[in-house]
Amino acid sequence: MQLSNRQLFLLHNAQTSTSPLMLEAEKAEGSIIYDIHGKEYIDLISGISVSNIGHRHPKVLKAIDHQLQKYMHLMVYGEYIQTPQTLLAKYINDLLIADFNGPVSTYFTNSGAEAVEGAMKLAKRYTGRSNFIACNQAYHGHTHGPMSLMSDEQYRKTFSPLLPGVKFINHNSLENIDYIDETVAAVFIEIVQAETGYIPAEMAFLEAIYMQCKKTGALLIIDEIQTGCGRTGSLFAFQKTQIKPDVLLLAKGFGGGMPIGAFIASNQVMNSLSENPILGHLTTFGGHPVCCASALATLQVIVEENLMEQATIKGKYIHEYIKKHLAIETEGLGLMQSITFKNFDTCKLIIDTCLENGILTDWFLFSSNKLRISPPLNIETSLLEKALATLVAIVKKYI
Ligand SMILES: Cc1ncc(COP(=O)(O)O)c(C=O)c1O
Repeated sequence: MQLSNRQLFLLHNAQTSTSPLMLEAEKAEGSIIYDIHGKEYIDLISGISVSNIGHRHPKVLKAIDHQLQKYMHLMVYGEYIQTPQTLLAKYINDLLIADFNGPVSTYFTNSGAEAVEGAMKLAKRYTGRSNFIACNQAYHGHTHGPMSLMSDEQYRKTFSPLLPGVKFINHNSLENIDYIDETVAAVFIEIVQAETGYIPAEMAFLEAIYMQCKKTGALLIIDEIQTGCGRTGSLFAFQKTQIKPDVLLLAKGFGGGMPIGAFIASNQVMNSLSENPILGHLTTFGGHPVCCASALATLQVIVEENLMEQATIKGKYIHEYIKKHLAIETEGLGLMQSITFKNFDTCKLIIDTCLENGILTDWFLFSSNKLRISPPLNIETSLLEKALATLVAIVKKYI
């Protein structure tokens, strides 16, 4: 007997949850995902901040196709000169040279977690120190390095031992800023703490951390894996603040739907990876030429079409719409908006009903009573209105 895709999925695809969403996708275009029955879903989560310019953007498809005609993987990262990598690194340099006060160097990875891993090693190598500071309830990825930066006790206990020498401070608290001392290699922060429900960092908090890093020589690593690439209303969220990173992390929306991440630093900091020992950091597929071509096209679309502005306008629209129709203040910045419900059961019921009604939303890893609204930046206004009207009608029924 032939098994269905659904049965095959449950039988042969590794399961990391006992209740996967199980939407069986047929295709995706712009801000809509179509399932195998032809049902349309308006995407209000962008695959968790990945599809910032929507699904299968024509300029991204063209760039991918162009590169496919030339070459795919040739050699482990960093050995051959591959045009898609050099063009992308130069484009990033031009975008960031002023913020970094000089030339910028990018190390391309395959994922966000791997960008965090690389940045941890870079900070150790550059400072000669091994301790790290991260924020309680921040999420930086699921491999061992990033998990060591995760405060959640359940994950820590289950996967211990993790890396030693990590201390946690509270997002938006000035208490314990003195944990950042001369033993600290780097401090990891997010400008909007994503997985607690899109909590923007306060300026006083960011400035205190920035000053303490300057004072102690600890590197400031800003994780913009979710907040980057236009999502908060500026190309990178730190550009809305007075602080600047020593290392910037990108992934997710950076690739326009292809897997790529990056850690980015000044040439001076990045050069510390190139000797003692040589090949101190390696990846086979990092900076895959097809992914780099896709990422460059994606960044160009965001910049040239000024999608950052769309994030600001549509973020405000969502906030006002929800306030007007539900008397609830959403939390967040730009197109990272969340709605808080009284508990997980209510939130889950609303998310499930949204799914039945063709709207894709989600909750947060560390805030299961909050609902995530983070559509593509270029979602059509009419689709956004339709999705919000459906969401509001469903919420009214259940709260
Ligand atoms: C802020 C942040 N950092 C790091 C990561 C890890 O990225 P990846 O899933 O590509 O490893 C994520 C993923 O959700 C993230 O949201």
